Amino acid sequence: KQGLQVAIDGPASAGKSTVAKLVAKRFGYIYVDTGAMYRAVTYWAMQHSVDLTDEAAVAELMQTLTISFKPGEPDQLVFANDQEITMAIRQPDVTNNVSTIAALPKVREILTDQQRQIAAAGGTVMDGRDIGTTVLPQAEVKVFLVASAAERAKRRYAENIKKGIDTPLAQLQAEIELRDHKDSTRKVSPLTQAADAVLVDTTPMSIDQVVDTIAEIIKKQS
Ligand code: C5P
Repeated sequence: KQGLQVAIDGPASAGKSTVAKLVAKRFGYIYVDTGAMYRAVTYWAMQHSVDLTDEAAVAELMQTLTISFKPGEPDQLVFANDQEITMAIRQPDVTNNVSTIAALPKVREILTDQQRQIAAAGGTVMDGRDIGTTVLPQAEVKVFLVASAAERAKRRYAENIKKGIDTPLAQLQAEIELRDHKDSTRKVSPLTQAADAVLVDTTPMSIDQVVDTIAEIIKKQS
């Protein structure tokens, strides 16, 4: 196996994908955005007017969907079959429905399998909610990234403005808190810190400081 498995979990907008991407770059690892996979399923189900609470129907529809990633700047490109959905899966309608899809056990089973296959070779930085607890319980490095809800809303707001999405700050914070609540209280693989994960509170930290902190943890394990 070449390289380590690095699991980065935490609540919405804690900066997971931003730092995971930079850590992967620094070590020459592959970055895997598992949130994008749940978002892709949500997008696909909405496009096909499938009831998002109908587990069997969503699972069946997933047989028509192949999710893939291609390199891109600043964001990795996400595809549903041959359709590029990078921007579409970040729109508020998908964001606000994704926790419903993510609560379906069958959906989690299918995506977890795919995620394990991608990470099998090692040299992966995978971010999500249940990577350290469920997807890769053997990961050599586990980080749980948190930040205050106010700080996370502020960061998401700044990111959204760049993408031309204009949701008011207070509404963003409410949406983030609601999504965290749904993700933390679902029955299957809820968002929770793995016992052996290192907790990093990024509220007062810059992106570089967070990346350096994680890089140190990886070096100690190598
Ligand atoms: O990371 P991101 O905010 O893009 O994730 C979107 C949603 O996908 C989360 O709110 C959660 O419902 C779901 N998710 C999950 N398990 C993961 C990654 C994401 O349930 N490993």
